[in-house]
Amino acid sequence: MIKAVFPHKDLLGIRNLGRDEIVMILDTAESFKEVSRRPIKKVPSLRGQTVINLFYEPSTRTRTSFEIAAKRLSADAVNISASTSSVVKGETLADTVRNLQAMAPDIVVMRHACAGAAEYVAGIIAAGVVNAGDGAHEHPTQALLDLLTMRQHCGRLEGLRLAIIGDIAHSRVARSNLWACRTLGIHARVCGPPSMMPRDLADFGEVEVCSRPEDAIATADVIMMLRLQLERQGTGLFPSLEEYARRYGLNRERLARAPADAVVMHPGPMNRGVEIAGDVADGRRAVILDQVENGVAVRMAILYLLGGSRS
Ligand code: CP
Repeated sequence: MIKAVFPHKDLLGIRNLGRDEIVMILDTAESFKEVSRRPIKKVPSLRGQTVINLFYEPSTRTRTSFEIAAKRLSADAVNISASTSSVVKGETLADTVRNLQAMAPDIVVMRHACAGAAEYVAGIIAAGVVNAGDGAHEHPTQALLDLLTMRQHCGRLEGLRLAIIGDIAHSRVARSNLWACRTLGIHARVCGPPSMMPRDLADFGEVEVCSRPEDAIATADVIMMLRLQLERQGTGLFPSLEEYARRYGLNRERLARAPADAVVMHPGPMNRGVEIAGDVADGRRAVILDQVENGVAVRMAILYLLGGSRS
């Protein structure tokens, strides 16, 4: 593979990536998909490099796929959960990452509940930092795998019509995708309870707000359902799960209002029967497991582009 030059030490968000940089990551990921289909799923690209996965919040897809991605690139991967680390003894984030830096990692992949945590860490350690989700701010590798999945199923990104439905305000997935829409010329429509609409929506460019999901999906190429953050239940954002499912959930009847070739995405983890009905999640129009497969390729691409610049 001819090495593309990625001019960043870190990947902290989609907001500051240019169109060509996003396309470079997607093209690199595309070329890595084949590695995961080989009998021996390994290339030597990052041999001798060390990737630390530092997760202060739970994760299944992101953490596992970063570990698999690192191993498929022949890097040494180390996983740290805050709950089983000295964080529980009161160690600060700065002390934790400075101690990890002393062990000479090449890349630190980090998830944290605070917006801006990855950027803060990137400013104090020499290793490249990948934001694996920071509060309600950004989840760049999720948006990149979403884009790869959209491009795979729709054949293009520019001019695509994307409907994002759910808790937009608290979703780092939505925010990273909306930045990508602005940069790549994807038409975004959002829909959700008024209490879950961000106040800064205008910053994302021309985003159309629909009050009914039927209107959001009527001309959509891609329907992205967001996880209802059940941990927020009881905070007055919506009356009940049943009410939410009835007004905003994607069930078979509602999906029938979308174009016949529209695909359904969900970043996971899903609340079946709340934001998405089980038969829709498992149905032929759902590309949710393609998103997960693409997650490994996208994370290989990111580690390769960041790690490659350090070798
Ligand atoms: N989509 C996503 O970030 O899933 P995890 O929380 O399981 O990593």
